[in-house]
Amino acid sequence: MTSYKLLLLPGDGIGPEVMAEVEKVIGALDALGLARFEIERDLVGGSAIDAHGKPLTDEALARADAADAILLGAVGGPKWADVAYEIRPEAGLLRLRKDLGLFANLRPAICYPALADASALKRELVEGLDIMIVRELTGGVYFGEPKEITTLPDGSKRAVDTQVYTTAEIERIAHVAFDLARKRSGRVASAEKHNVMKSGVLWKEVVTKVHADYSDVTLEHVLADNCAMQLVRRPKQYDVLVTDNLFGDVLSDVAAMLTGSLGMLPSASLGAVDAKGSRKALYEPVHGSAPDIAGKGYANPIAMIGSLAMCLRYSFGLGEAADLLESAVTRTLASGARTRDIAAEGITPISTSEMGDAIIRELKHAA
Ligand code: IPM
Ligand code: MG
Repeated sequence: MTSYKLLLLPGDGIGPEVMAEVEKVIGALDALGLARFEIERDLVGGSAIDAHGKPLTDEALARADAADAILLGAVGGPKWADVAYEIRPEAGLLRLRKDLGLFANLRPAICYPALADASALKRELVEGLDIMIVRELTGGVYFGEPKEITTLPDGSKRAVDTQVYTTAEIERIAHVAFDLARKRSGRVASAEKHNVMKSGVLWKEVVTKVHADYSDVTLEHVLADNCAMQLVRRPKQYDVLVTDNLFGDVLSDVAAMLTGSLGMLPSASLGAVDAKGSRKALYEPVHGSAPDIAGKGYANPIAMIGSLAMCLRYSFGLGEAADLLESAVTRTLASGARTRDIAAEGITPISTSEMGDAIIRELKHAA
């Protein structure tokens, strides 16, 4: 069996706890003969700052570049609140995204039937929800220059971030969205603010142009603020939702919460397909490092385990193993297993590692 090179970057906070469950799942996949990996580990974020004085070393970046895929836990936490902006924990993650060219961030928001009551929204609004947010990840205001705080003659300050998009950047993310829509229900909504932003004007224009090659897909343009409202009003109207880096950051947190918990959502960050047909890829939960619950064994490992499932599917073409793992998660939830974040009142929650074990039991049962 092909052995794939996987780099694990657990990061900070609950990152290492949820990654430990992924390592158990990887062991089970191997034992079942479903997938084999050569595992490497390195540091990112605050843990790398503690060890090396920066949130991502050149060696770790080189390792990431050489790996077939990367799994990342989470970065950041109050412990590093005072480090210089340039070396804050998040800068490690942003450098990985930028330097590896991971421009397409897929964030599926799926509401598991067993969890429809865990959502803040009414069951009928979220039951069966299946949205794919396609977030542009290497452009926009996250990386635009100038990005600075300067001091004015009167001693007060002026802060600037720059929102920049080029035709090529919008085209490639639009293609990702339309290609995905073809494999789903054939609908794309594109969110921007062309009513106030020049980058929104160009975004809308380019997405419309790219759409001309996809007559089988329907395209709707929506203003990003309206989109946020629609997501909590009638979320099931969306299938594929394509948007820029900053709007995607915000809208994906909203979409995540529709499903019951931030602890449920995986994501894939993909680069361009190269001549050999492969692409760089990093998989990570949408949730953050959750420092308030770190080390307590409360964290929900499902987003991290779901990220491994996405990795099997998108990086290695192991769709069958991914299906088995995802259905193991569905059955585990259906059996009533709940970590704290998704436990209804009166239900005793299980720990991070008990959830991992329960999923592995279901996986072994099905395989
Ligand atoms: C995300 C996170 C990151 C982002 C942070 C940790 C830099 O919120 O992946 O959504 O803003 O992109
Ligand atoms: Mg975010």
